[in-house]
This record gives sequence, C-alpha cells and structure tokens, in this order.
Amino acid sequence: MIKHYGNLPQVECYAGQLNQVFMNVLSNAIDALEESLADNQAQITTPTITIHTEQIDAHQVEIRIADNGLGIPESVRQRLFDPFFTTKPVGKGTGMGLSISYQIVTEKHGGSLSCTSETGEGAEFQIRIPVSQEVNKNVAVDV
Ligand SMILES: Nc1ncnc2c1ncn2[C@@H]1O[C@H](COP(=O)(O)OP(=O)(O)O)[C@@H](O)[C@H]1O
Ligand SMILES: [Mg+2]
Repeated sequence: MIKHYGNLPQVECYAGQLNQVFMNVLSNAIDALEESLADNQAQITTPTITIHTEQIDAHQVEIRIADNGLGIPESVRQRLFDPFFTTKPVGKGTGMGLSISYQIVTEKHGGSLSCTSETGEGAEFQIRIPVSQEVNKNVAVDV
C-alpha cells in the first residue's frame, strides 16, 4: 500500500457514506489483485494499491485509488457503474458497490467518480468531491 496524502482542506461531506465509497473501491482493488495472483498468465508483480489525495483547486479535492491488477477491459468499463453488474462468481459479487458509490459521489455530493484502465496494467478510480456542499444544497432545494 503506497500512500501519497496531500494537504487537504476541511471538506463538508457525508463522511459515513464516503467511507462506504472508499471501502467499495478498495475491496474491488483487493479482489483485482487476488485475481491477478491467481492468474498464471499474469506477469509477476508486487500487488500494490496506491492512494493519492490532493486539493485540485479552491473548490474540490480528489482521491485516486489505483491497483496493479489485471485492469478492466473496455466492455466491462462501459458497465462498471450499472446496478447489479458484476464479473464475479455468484456469492462473491453483488454488482452494487460501484453503482451505490456512483450515486453517493454524484448525487449526494455533487462530485464525480471515474475510472481509467489499461488491460493488463491495473485500474485507477478518481473520486472528486466539492469542498463545500452549498451549491449542491441549493440545487437540492430548487428540485
Ligand atoms: N479495481 C478493479 N479492477 C478490475 N475490475 C474491477 C475493479 N473494480 C471494479 N471492477 C469490475 O467492476 C465490476 C463491478 O464492481 P462492483 O460494482 O463493486 O461489484 P462487485 O464487486 O460486487 O462485482 C466488478 O465485478 C469488476 O468486474
Ligand atoms: Mg465491489
């Protein structure tokens, strides 16, 4: 586990829900690393999860969580955030982790959740969260 923690400002957020997001993304990263260890074709690398945090500008912070597992093919990447989409065996995956995480980040916080990946070279998830929920609150009131 490699941690690059930047200086973050105080962030107004639903902390319990964001923790759930981090746990979902981290547990997927661990699953991906376990899969790559079990895959005889995969290159031998040290299973690593790298976390970056940084303040992007006055208004938002970014948390990036990367693994060096097998990566995510384009066909899977298109469906990552769909409810019940899973590539894991029955009983292991529910396919709900990223779908719930996406809702928490985008709808609850007005942030963004995205993923980049090269097949065979691992995956990285980027979570952006506004520092203040003021704008988001006003939007919610208008609706
Ligand atoms: N770090 C990752 N590396 C490779 N595939 C991933 C990663 N994170 C998510 N995925 C893919 O996205 C799918 C959906 O993830 P998720 O919504 O958490 O459901 P689940 O973990 O229950 O399958 C996973 O089944 C997997 O195929
Ligand atoms: Mg999951």
